[in-house]
Formats: sequence, C-alpha cells, structure tokens
Amino acid sequence: MKPAFYITTPIYYVNDVPHIGHAYTTLACDVLARYKRAKGYEVFFLTGTDEHGQKVEKAAQTKGETPLELADRVMKRFQALWEKLNIDNSDFIRTTQERHKKGVSHLFTLLKEKGDIYLGEYEDWYCTPCETFWTETQLMDGNCPDCGRPTDKLKEESYFFRMSQYQDALLKHIEANPDFIQPRSRRNEILSFIREGLRDLSISRTSFSWGIPVPGDERHVIYVWFDALSNYITALGYPDDPDGNYGRFWPVDAHVIGKDILRFHSVYWPTFLLAAGLPLPKKVFAHGWWTVEGQKMSKSLANVVEPNMLVDKYGVDAIRYFLLREVPFGLDGDFSHAALVHRINSDLANDLGNLVSRSTAMVNKYFDGVLPAPEENTPVDEQLIEQFQLAIWGIDNTVSNLMFNKALQNMWELVSASNKYIDTTAPWSLAKNPDDRGRLSTVMYNLLEGTRLIALLIKPFMPETGGKILSILGCSPELEIGGHEQWGGLTPGIQIEKAAPLFPRIENND
Ligand code: ME8
Repeated sequence: MKPAFYITTPIYYVNDVPHIGHAYTTLACDVLARYKRAKGYEVFFLTGTDEHGQKVEKAAQTKGETPLELADRVMKRFQALWEKLNIDNSDFIRTTQERHKKGVSHLFTLLKEKGDIYLGEYEDWYCTPCETFWTETQLMDGNCPDCGRPTDKLKEESYFFRMSQYQDALLKHIEANPDFIQPRSRRNEILSFIREGLRDLSISRTSFSWGIPVPGDERHVIYVWFDALSNYITALGYPDDPDGNYGRFWPVDAHVIGKDILRFHSVYWPTFLLAAGLPLPKKVFAHGWWTVEGQKMSKSLANVVEPNMLVDKYGVDAIRYFLLREVPFGLDGDFSHAALVHRINSDLANDLGNLVSRSTAMVNKYFDGVLPAPEENTPVDEQLIEQFQLAIWGIDNTVSNLMFNKALQNMWELVSASNKYIDTTAPWSLAKNPDDRGRLSTVMYNLLEGTRLIALLIKPFMPETGGKILSILGCSPELEIGGHEQWGGLTPGIQIEKAAPLFPRIENND
C-alpha cells in the first residue's frame, strides 16, 4: 500500500473574494501535494470555505442576500480560481455541508459529556471584525491588538472549553516535537504565549445565529473557530469513518496557514484534539504575509492583487513560479509587478527557455532531431551528472520541508550548470569536425537528459511547463520524478522536437 500524506490549506472566509494571499497558501500546498504524489504517496489535499459566523452574516446583510446565497456565490469564485491556478485538490469542504455540521456537533457533544465544556458567562472586549475577545491588558489603546479597530465590552452567556486543563499537555507536546510548529521563530512565540497561561475559551455565541447550533441548546451557535478548525477531520469523515479516510489520513502531515492564524492552529486546535483523545497534527507551518508594492494589502487602499488578472496577463506557471521563488516560505515578502516581470524575463524566458530552445535546436540541427546514444563520459560530463544527482537528493529534502524557494533555487542552479555545459563543450565546434561526432553525441545526450530531469523537478511547481518540456523530449507528459530520477532515462533514437520559446519575454513593464 502507498504511504499516506495529508495536507490542508485554511478554509477561506466567504465574506472576502480570493486574492493573492489565498492563492499563495493554496499553491504551496498544491506543490507539496503534487511532489508527494509524484514520489508515490497517496495524497489527500484538502481546501475549502469557512462559511459561518458574524462576519459572513453581516456581509450578506449589506449585500441583501442570505448568508448561504453569499457563500454559494463566493465559494464558486474560490473553486474557479483554483481551477485556473491548476490546483489539484482532493476535496473541497464547506462548513455549511451536512457532513461537517454533523462532525462538529459530535465533537462538541463528546467534549461536553467529558466535562470539558461547561456553561458560564463571558465579559470581555470583543472585536467584531476579528470575532475575537480580548482581555483589558491585551488591548492596544483600547483597540483590537490584531486589526487596530475599536472593541466593545460584551457580556454574554457562553459555553466554555476547559483549555486551561490542557496547557501542560500541550507544552510538553511542543517541547517534545521541535518540528510541530514551524518556522522555529514562530514556535518560540507560541511557547511564550502558552507559558503566560491558557484561559478557558468561550466557544459559543448568542449574539447572532448564522452558525451550527449548540447541540441541546439552540439559543447558542458554536463559535466560528471551533466550527472551522474541525473541518480538517470532518472532511475525512470523522466520526463515522474510522476505517476510511479518517483512519488512513489522520493525523495530518501539514496544516499550512498564514502567520495570522497560527495561534488558532497551534493552541486551540491541538487542545480540542487532546480533549477528544485524538492524535495531534504532525506539523503546523505558518508562512509569511505579502505586502503589495511595499504596502499592506487592503480594500481601502484598492491595492488588492487579483490572481485571475495576473494569470490572464502572465500565464499560470509564471505566477506559480514567482510566488514560491520570490520569498522564503515563512518570511514576509513584497509583491511588485517589476519583480514579477524581472523573474519571468530572467529565470523563465532567459535561463530555462534558452536551455530548452538551444538544446532542442542543436539536436535537430546536428542529428535531425534523433537523440544520439552517448559515448564515453569525460570529467566535464561526470561533474554535470553528479551535480544533478546531488541536487535531486537535496531537493527532496527542501520540498518536503516546505523550503520552496530554496528548492527552486537549486533547480535553477541545474539550469545554469546546463547552460554553462553548452558553453564549455561548444557543440558548434564539435559539429565542424567529423572526428568529434562521438563526442558531440555524448554532449547532446547529456544536455537533453539533464533537461528531462529539470522538467520532472519543476513539474510540481509548473505542471504545464514541465509536461510541455517532457513532450518536446519525446517523453510522456504524465511522467513523474518518482522512479524516473536516475540519470539515463532518455532512450537514444527518440525524436526530439524543436521547441518554440516557452516563455516570451515581457518587454514593457506596465
Ligand atoms: O482566517 N499574505 O480565513 P481567511 C499571505 N477562515 N497570505 C495571506 C494574506 C497575505 N497578505 N492574506 C490572507 C481565515 N492570506 C479562517 C481560517 S482555518 C480552520 C479558518 C492567507 O479567508 C493565509 O493563508 O481570512 C491566511 O492564513 C488565510 O489567507 C486567511 O484566510
């Protein structure tokens, strides 16, 4: 049986339309999911939409729709964008689906029966846009410490989860599992937050009604984070499917999220799971945030980057490449059109594009497009081959550890090494002398074989481009790196096409 691999994105709120930040998280998950599939794993890749809560209720009101009408409309925009970005998810969960509501009610009832949920009264400062209660000391000049907006003092009857009970168990788990929260800097942040002391958590609301009712007390709806976080197991069929997807895929290999929601994933969620006696996620990875041309992305600044428009203008693979190449995953980054155009022109059109067009043009010119069999390798060839083998091994490690930009950097070192190999071996000189025909065959073979491996490596990041290069090389575009990473995969005698430019240069930088 194939090993299992489970990866998730956050489920996105439907009160906002998809932007570059959402695309970023989903793309990163897609790359890892594709890579693991290529390496022979059975992958479950989950994304979806978070459709309950006061924010959605309010957004629907202002639009004159019911919350469900709003959710239906916006979730389609997410799905359409994922299709356009070539996202190959296994499932799409909506929190308004029956399967989800059922699982959440079950979890709530389980914890209540255990005595970990009790009815109490809550009074604190509430930030409506963030749907978060803050203590007096957490406020910044009376405002929400997350978004800076005003808060209201609210008192309401509420069900509480005994989060305080699980403080020690959670601390022990984080200390014993250094890779549980990544990157490391964020782990330290969470550790100090927990060490300050966990309070019990209010997990129901009576102030609005758009949510899953509390089982047995319909005056309350379940707090949106208890509802939302549970999606990661309800999508697997929890609690009804212990031998199906739940049994196969839980605990999750990686919850990939933005740094804004790390506390919910590394404190709230694990304590719910501890209380329910369920295994904890293997990894929670919080990536950084994008600014746009140096500024925070916001509706009021009208600088929200719309991914559909980018794909139409630059192509899907260029966007996939740029987002994961530009910034180390885990750090903040800045999106600018100039940086995007620069990367397309230099890395894609120039480095990769030239390698593919030069190598295929030469084999067509010197061998009528028929791949020659290599003869004896010289040290220059051995060095190139060794560089490929080392890089393939290293890239397995970097991709598996979500170091996407490093992995791409390593792939482009192979592109440069191959371009340099052309310059060093100078096939155009060899072609002039019939005595060098054997040497020319070796050089052509190595060059195209390296290009094949580059195509396989980039495929999870750029599925279309990887597949296109493979076809040009006479291979199946379906070929994957797993099982085909050995040097020497190309069969001499196959017909190689002369490639048209893969990425046209972008001349004007508007
Ligand atoms: O928080 N840069 O949903 P959400 C990078 N429903 N990533 C960004 C970003 C930016 N500027 N802006 C948003 C929610 N993101 C909850 C999650 S999960 C059980 C419930 C990405 O629609 C990033 O992944 O506000 C962030 O975590 C997510 O969008 C927040 O999406």
